[in-house]
Amino acid sequence: MLPNVIFPLILSLSTHSAAVIMKQTCRCLFFLLFFLCFSIHLNLSEGADSITANQSLSGYLNQTIVSAGKTFELGFFTRGNFSRYYVGIWYKNVIQQAIVWVANREKPISDINSAELKILDGNLVLVDKSQDPIWSTNVSSTTSNSSVATLNDDGNLVLRDGSEPRTSEGFWQSFDHPADTLLPGAKIAYDKRTKAKQLLISWKNSEDPAPGLFSLELDPNESQYIIKWNRTQPYWTSGAWNGHIFSSVPEMTLNSIFNSSYVDNINEAYLTYSLYNPESISKLVMDVSGQIKLISWWESTKDWISAWSQPRQQCEVYDYCGAFGTCNQSSLPSCSCLQGFKPKFENDWNLGDYSGGCVREIDLPQCGNGSTSTGRKDKFLQNPQVSLPVNYQTVIAGSAGECESVCLNNCSCTAYSYDGNACLVWNGEIMDLQQLPENDGSGITIYVRLAASAPQFSSNKKNKGVVIGAIVGSAAVVTVLLAIVKVTIRRRQRHILGTANAVERSSVAYLELEMRGDNKNDTGVPFYSWKSILASTENFSDVHKLGQGGFGPVYKGLLPGGKEIAVKRLSSFSVQGSNEFQNEVVLIAKLQHRNLVKLLGYCIEGNEKILLYEYMPNKSLDVFIFDKTLCILLNWRKRFEIILGIARGILYLHQDSRLRIIHRDLKTSNILLDAEMNPRISDFGLARIVEDKVTEASTNKVVGTYGYMSPEYASYGQFSIKSDVFSFGIIVLEIISGKRNTGFYGSTEALNLLGYAWRLWSENRALDLLDPMILAFFKKSEVVKCINVGLLCVEEDPIDRPTMSNVVLMLSGEMTFLPVPKQPAFAMRKHAFSASSSSSNKPDPISNELTMFVPQGR
Ligand SMILES: *[C@@H]1O[C@H](CO)[C@@H](O)[C@H](O)[C@H]1NC(C)=O
Ligand SMILES: *[C@@H]1O[C@H](CO)[C@@H](O)[C@H](O)[C@H]1NC(C)=O
Ligand SMILES: *[C@@H]1O[C@H](CO)[C@@H](O)[C@H](O)[C@H]1NC(C)=O
Ligand SMILES: *[C@@H]1O[C@H](CO)[C@@H](O)[C@H](O)[C@H]1NC(C)=O
Ligand SMILES: *[C@@H]1O[C@H](CO)[C@@H](O)[C@H](O)[C@H]1NC(C)=O
Ligand SMILES: *[C@@H]1O[C@H](CO)[C@@H](O)[C@H](O)[C@H]1NC(C)=O
Ligand SMILES: *[C@@H]1O[C@H](CO)[C@@H](O)[C@H](O)[C@H]1NC(C)=O
Ligand SMILES: *[C@@H]1O[C@H](CO)[C@@H](O)[C@H](O)[C@H]1NC(C)=O
Ligand SMILES: *[C@@H]1O[C@H](CO)[C@@H](O)[C@H](O)[C@H]1NC(C)=O
Ligand SMILES: *[C@@H]1O[C@H](CO)[C@@H](O)[C@H](O)[C@H]1NC(C)=O
Ligand SMILES: *[C@@H]1O[C@H](CO)[C@@H](O)[C@H](O)[C@H]1NC(C)=O
Repeated sequence: MLPNVIFPLILSLSTHSAAVIMKQTCRCLFFLLFFLCFSIHLNLSEGADSITANQSLSGYLNQTIVSAGKTFELGFFTRGNFSRYYVGIWYKNVIQQAIVWVANREKPISDINSAELKILDGNLVLVDKSQDPIWSTNVSSTTSNSSVATLNDDGNLVLRDGSEPRTSEGFWQSFDHPADTLLPGAKIAYDKRTKAKQLLISWKNSEDPAPGLFSLELDPNESQYIIKWNRTQPYWTSGAWNGHIFSSVPEMTLNSIFNSSYVDNINEAYLTYSLYNPESISKLVMDVSGQIKLISWWESTKDWISAWSQPRQQCEVYDYCGAFGTCNQSSLPSCSCLQGFKPKFENDWNLGDYSGGCVREIDLPQCGNGSTSTGRKDKFLQNPQVSLPVNYQTVIAGSAGECESVCLNNCSCTAYSYDGNACLVWNGEIMDLQQLPENDGSGITIYVRLAASAPQFSSNKKNKGVVIGAIVGSAAVVTVLLAIVKVTIRRRQRHILGTANAVERSSVAYLELEMRGDNKNDTGVPFYSWKSILASTENFSDVHKLGQGGFGPVYKGLLPGGKEIAVKRLSSFSVQGSNEFQNEVVLIAKLQHRNLVKLLGYCIEGNEKILLYEYMPNKSLDVFIFDKTLCILLNWRKRFEIILGIARGILYLHQDSRLRIIHRDLKTSNILLDAEMNPRISDFGLARIVEDKVTEASTNKVVGTYGYMSPEYASYGQFSIKSDVFSFGIIVLEIISGKRNTGFYGSTEALNLLGYAWRLWSENRALDLLDPMILAFFKKSEVVKCINVGLLCVEEDPIDRPTMSNVVLMLSGEMTFLPVPKQPAFAMRKHAFSASSSSSNKPDPISNELTMFVPQGR
């Protein structure tokens, strides 16, 4: 046995340089003696995945164990300051050491050379020179001296009895004690019996794994998970699990990377997830930024890429910048100190731990000690356009000057804000302050107390400088300020309460929405009064604006029962006149299909025309497929389902409904997504009913969207069900490629997406069209089939294009052989119809696309 012990040790030592060996002679002797005398702890053989009773990991030799599939490695590591060492688990094959678990988060080892990780009395223990435990699995129920700690290929370190099989759950596992990372298969849990929580806690800063301020934990009462600051202050929630998705983050389940689920049984509730592609390297992290992030390792770029994070905005993280810090969403880093303040801990601040906040550059002179007698008063520096910081007190003051002196005369008062009515004062530290963009209407101005000797007052007295209580000029300003503060407060509550906001807003007791009971005048759609529309959208408040459609803005509204609706306000200057309006109401009212958006009501008052739709929480398809981050959320399965859904919706319009309808403006921004990411066709303002047998018509007013219009429609105003088919083909190719047909400037590749797709197809490289962000499994044959169908739909001659019923048959696999596509329209001619597109009407901008109105001189 002995030679076996010494031989590998000497071998590994011999790899050290001679000089090192000389220097370390004493230490070597110590180790040799140690091994000779006790002969208990064997050096680990290369590549072992377990630590057994007779073995240990030596810090001096920097030994590691590696999981059987070589995915994870456990060993010693250090970060930044080479004086603190930790035992942790990281990905073996990722060059950027990414720590997924840390044993001794709070107690770093200072002397790595004497540190050892070994089995002691059945527990896995990290000991230092004096053999004192620094960290231990600390399972009291075991003293088994045949314990074995095995690093599994899923990253879980399991301590079990050596006699148990390797698959055993053991009596301790690292998955039950996560650090800041949730690996696939691990859980965030709440034990109903012991009320114990298993949670993620962020690192303190990018170099220190000690528990930081941000934690991710379960809220079993609401079947959701929440992020808390300092374990007490919740600032983000996932929304309740409805059996399929978390209501505020449906994309957490409906995406191509990870499949999350929430389990609730008698003993426990937990959140867990799996990866669709088990080969991919992805993890969920409670980041030092206070955001939860799903990050994926990209071997091609050798980088971790954040696929998803919440809260989306860094500044929504509670008190991210610490006391007297301010968060500016558009700058990087987001945190800075208020004027007159500097970071309290410069080092931590530079490592991304802003929690220490800021301190005064110049201390305030002793307060309350004759500030008047010495003639030295503190002064207040104006900070405009900030969010309302938490923890204020309201005091009574008749003017801004009075408000200022209230603050000045209170030694602990650090800032005030006066809105013409209420005087808000802050005592002690000012927390959670955000710098808002100039166009944000909810900003307030606060005045922060600084020493009168602060340079801020001497340098540019004219601009900012001393505040005189004359800010409030007119009654108008007063009311505006008051309204702003109210909005800010409401925002703040909403942001903290997360999904509770629907309830909160409806309880604000809006005017009753009167729905005219016997409303069935010939539209068959409920009529809503103008007053009730105003109430549901808070007078079309910008806060509730969802976007700008082709014919005017769309707002989110709330009916008294709490039902969310989308309110489309047709701009009075828009081209859609009463005719189009009546048209849309009558049309959609008669349409009922799961892939069409549902009209809930309408309103006409004077020039105002309003349509009320179902609210679609996931906005429109273009928002997802053309966004570098969000596109990841649509895996191939989902994209295929969306393509099929759109096809079914159009088929219904063309021949299954009681009418025959040509939509005329199909495009990705008119495809909305419901909570389950099912496609819903919307915007029927341009739709035309044609008589039963008629499939073609013509118009002298060509309307539609550049990039989606078929050649015969764009050039001759002829529209037919086949021009819808053309638009559908473009949509299909856009969904597959993640690229816009229009903004596509693949310079040398092709002139537009159609040309590019056609080229790849004719070179037998069709699969190259697929969005590279589709990481997870896809069926090659299915992708090729979709590209084939897409190309058939965009053929130059309408007669060659399939009907929607054929499209549905082809997509759903009922046709074995698909026709071979011909070269599509526009493929090689960049501006085929640019000559005819000289428009006289100014089009409304819709993101990158323009809805185009082409007068035809027929
Ligand atoms: C550990 O050592 C004991 C005696 O000290 C021996 O009986 C046992 O077989 C060893 N176990 C392993 C796995 O080498
Ligand atoms: C130990 O070795 C691993 C793997 O080679 C390395 O990543 C790590 O930084 C080393 N740890 C120390 C403390 O040198
Ligand atoms: C490294 O850490 C030690 C102990 O925490 C500390 O005393 C020392 O100042 C640190 N050095 C640097 C350069 O941060
Ligand atoms: C182990 O647990 C006991 C009781 O739970 C505690 O008193 C002790 O400090 C723990 N030891 C270590 C090394 O964590
Ligand atoms: C195992 O532990 C028990 C009690 O802790 C002890 O009596 C026994 O001798 C140990 N066996 C070995 C092989 O070390
Ligand atoms: C659940 O709600 C109850 C009653 O409101 C409360 O006492 C309990 O602390 C909550 N549990 C958790 C884990 O938040
Ligand atoms: C976090 O909470 C603890 C008490 O629960 C408190 O002592 C500590 O000061 C808080 N940390 C910060 C940064 O406010
Ligand atoms: C997602 O995970 C749940 C629970 O583990 C499982 O039942 C479901 O089949 C998974 N879904 C997919 C698409 O893999
Ligand atoms: C916020 O950051 C942006 C970008 O750095 C900068 O242009 C802007 O002035 C900042 N806002 C304030 C109020 O400092
Ligand atoms: C007040 O100021 C005087 C000198 O200006 C100083 O001697 C005294 O200690 C101060 N009192 C307190 C309570 O700080
Ligand atoms: C439908 O009813 C509303 C309200 O009663 C009325 O203003 C409107 O003119 C009616 N529409 C038609 C087409 O009759």
